Amino acid sequence: MGKKILVTGGTGYIGSHTVVELQQAGYEVVIVDNLSNSSADVLEGITRITGKRPIFDKLDCADAEAMNALFKKHNFDGIIHFAASKAVGESVQKPLMYYRNNLVSLINLLELMPKYNVKGIVFSSSCTVYGEPDANPIDENALIKPAESPYGNTKQINEEIIQDFVHSGAPIKSIILRYFNPIGAHPSAEIGELPIGVPQNLVPYITQTGIGIRKQLSVFGDDYNTPDGSCIRDFINVVDLAKAHVISIDRMLGGKSEQPVEIFNLGTGTGLSVLELIKVFEEVSGKPLNYKIVSRREGDIEQIWAQPDRANNVLGWKAKETIEDTMASAWKWQQRLKEKGVM
Ligand code: UD1
Repeated sequence: MGKKILVTGGTGYIGSHTVVELQQAGYEVVIVDNLSNSSADVLEGITRITGKRPIFDKLDCADAEAMNALFKKHNFDGIIHFAASKAVGESVQKPLMYYRNNLVSLINLLELMPKYNVKGIVFSSSCTVYGEPDANPIDENALIKPAESPYGNTKQINEEIIQDFVHSGAPIKSIILRYFNPIGAHPSAEIGELPIGVPQNLVPYITQTGIGIRKQLSVFGDDYNTPDGSCIRDFINVVDLAKAHVISIDRMLGGKSEQPVEIFNLGTGTGLSVLELIKVFEEVSGKPLNYKIVSRREGDIEQIWAQPDRANNVLGWKAKETIEDTMASAWKWQQRLKEKGVM
């Protein structure tokens, strides 16, 4: 039997794609998720792709007692911690909810690790910790600036909590992964991004507009200091991203970490503007997208893309999928949702 990995937030967008890759690499997966922003139906999609149903427990990671019982029941070898609230705007409205969810969950996991001899944790962080970069591409040594939102602050604080705990001599290792902008879906279209309500993120808004659920995409600003005036991001394929988690778990549990805490940017290394991404969507879907330029969205970074050399050289991981294939996968997923009558 393969090593047993706890995946918190495993029914979510990045979590579900990672569970597939873990199972395909021979790991045994236990998912916990409170289903606050995902559905247990995702388990069917995972099972259809891998032929194996992951163990699932509907739990909130902030519930220390329930988590203790879970650790007692399973002998986890490692953890990948995705479970968190992630909407930037909502975090400004509900800061305490964000601090409670995102900080208490991690603290509970870290407290349980030495108690149950769990050796390593991969943490989902974000390029949001860099704020507005002084220069692009941005590498892992860049200055961490004051966070723009409570959400961003929880990612910064969580990184510090991990560093402090490890430096206190805790017998654990950690790999912190800073994601740029994950997009796309599994090529099978069995799993993908499933935002509840009106999407906040660009790609689900594009595909929902393309299929007619939304009338028109609003492009937030065309007066930025960029070649076409729209914001620039590093859009990274979600399956590529998921694979980096398997490599990280292999590395940590195989005793290959060079330091107790390692940090890696996960991006393609290429910046693409919002308007360029819309063009890619129009190409792969073969239809024009109804969009209009509106004013800037508060809190948006003008431009950011990754220097992914460390992940490329140290992890041996590299983004492989083209932006065309990635947008095509997002479109295929949106069409599958329509066929199934989900939305
Ligand atoms: C943000 C966070 C990121 C977080 C992610 C999760 C920052 C800097 N980034 O990414 O850490 O993990 O949310 O939700 O805080 N756009 C439109 N119209 C739309 C939607 C988006 O024009 O309807 C534009 C935005 O202005 C932005 C780009 O598309 O320029 C990407 O936006 P989005 O997908 O929301 O991601 P980020 O804000 O980059």
